[in-house]
Amino acid sequence: MSIQADLMGSLTLDQLQEFDRNHHMHSFTSAEALRMAPPFMIDSADGVYVSGQNIRLLDAMAGLGCVNIGYGRKELAETAAHVMKKLSYYHSFAAVTNPYAAALSQKIASLAPAHMNKVFISNSGSEAVETALKLVALYWRTKGEPKRRAIITRDYAYHGSTIATAALNGNAEMATQFGFIDSTTILRAKAPYWYREGGDLTPDEFGIIAAQSVEVTILEAGPENVAAFIGEPVQGTMGIIVPPATYWPEVERICRKYGVLLIADEVVTGFGRTGHWFAQETFGFSADIMTLAKGLSSSYLPVSATVISDKVADVIEGGSALLQHGFTTSGHPVTCAVALKNILLLEEEGLVTAVRDDKGPYLEASLKAALGDHPLVGEIRTSGLMAAIELTKNKATREQYPAELAICDHVGQAALMQGLIVRPVGNVVVMCPPFIISRAEIDFICTVLAEACDNVHAALQNQDE
Ligand SMILES: Cc1ncc(COP(=O)(O)O)c(C=O)c1O
Repeated sequence: MSIQADLMGSLTLDQLQEFDRNHHMHSFTSAEALRMAPPFMIDSADGVYVSGQNIRLLDAMAGLGCVNIGYGRKELAETAAHVMKKLSYYHSFAAVTNPYAAALSQKIASLAPAHMNKVFISNSGSEAVETALKLVALYWRTKGEPKRRAIITRDYAYHGSTIATAALNGNAEMATQFGFIDSTTILRAKAPYWYREGGDLTPDEFGIIAAQSVEVTILEAGPENVAAFIGEPVQGTMGIIVPPATYWPEVERICRKYGVLLIADEVVTGFGRTGHWFAQETFGFSADIMTLAKGLSSSYLPVSATVISDKVADVIEGGSALLQHGFTTSGHPVTCAVALKNILLLEEEGLVTAVRDDKGPYLEASLKAALGDHPLVGEIRTSGLMAAIELTKNKATREQYPAELAICDHVGQAALMQGLIVRPVGNVVVMCPPFIISRAEIDFICTVLAEACDNVHAALQNQDE
């Protein structure tokens, strides 16, 4: 009997929800929310759909923007079972390895930009970013510039949940709730958020200005104190902020000018989300370090990677200091094998090319046709299969609805009632669907969202009357 049949045979949904409420601490969830309603129990998933409590939902978020290959791929389950029977675990400390960690590292290096050839494997996006921070510190110490400690991040950034990575986040509460990190080592630059902050400038003009705020930050701190700049190529978690085309090349130029290392946090964008294997290609820039997670294994198992340029690796490996870093399950054979199989499937099925040439453009065109002129919609922005619908009170002035009206939550709720999962973030409806989504499923997303926006808009107008 399967575990699921066993659990469901002996335990009722009510019992499981009670267990969960009493004992399971949820991420980013208020205790109040769990008191008001029982947690929603998802118990199966297939293709672009997740199911539970007799409801089937089209998941236009691919979980948390991670199940790129779609749910329920038997090949990945079979790979996991095969490797688990052969080598359930061994570590990769002290010059020991396993075939899957070795092969996955080679595969990532072969897909990565040519100057990036070393891969550190860990378990989550946060760990990948945390690893990048340690490597940056070690790089500067080994080079004899230990004063270079400051990391530049941006408004609206999301880089993780550990102590150090949370301090990089743009959301002030997330960044400062715990207070372990000395905020003088974390510096903040402008986000390339043209719709909110670009005013009368063209996107390209604003892209340069947003990039130059990185230069201002470097000069204020003194270049001799700045270790690295970190940025998501497209800021995902805080609202799919797609930068103007001018932004990244200018950021790269500025980092090179002052010798500041450039970290591309590709935890969401890596492995095809923007239509190229890595978003550095989409946006025309080249980083010194990149971080990967989510799409690496399509989140079938937890795995992440920090990929390091030859420039950084040569300094670190040329020094005498041992990298004091590693996790028990770094390079786990089963997770590495599943990640490798996931990448091979993406390749064999041409899924990244499909995002670039078919699914991405179709999603963009369909959203614009269905919602571009809607009175509630200020901007639709996409990059590959990342999409945002920014809601506004006034299309001309781009004024935002007050947060307490929770307009976007209402749109999300209305969509959910019609069988569609999207993610409300402030005043932005966010989507990152699986790459296997069909045109008909994209049409469904557009129809449901147009209706949801109509309903919320009508309710707002009734309120005003
Ligand atoms: C860009 C980026 N970096 C890092 C993280 C942290 O990843 P994880 O939640 O796997 O720790 C996320 C998570 O959403 C992310 O979007």
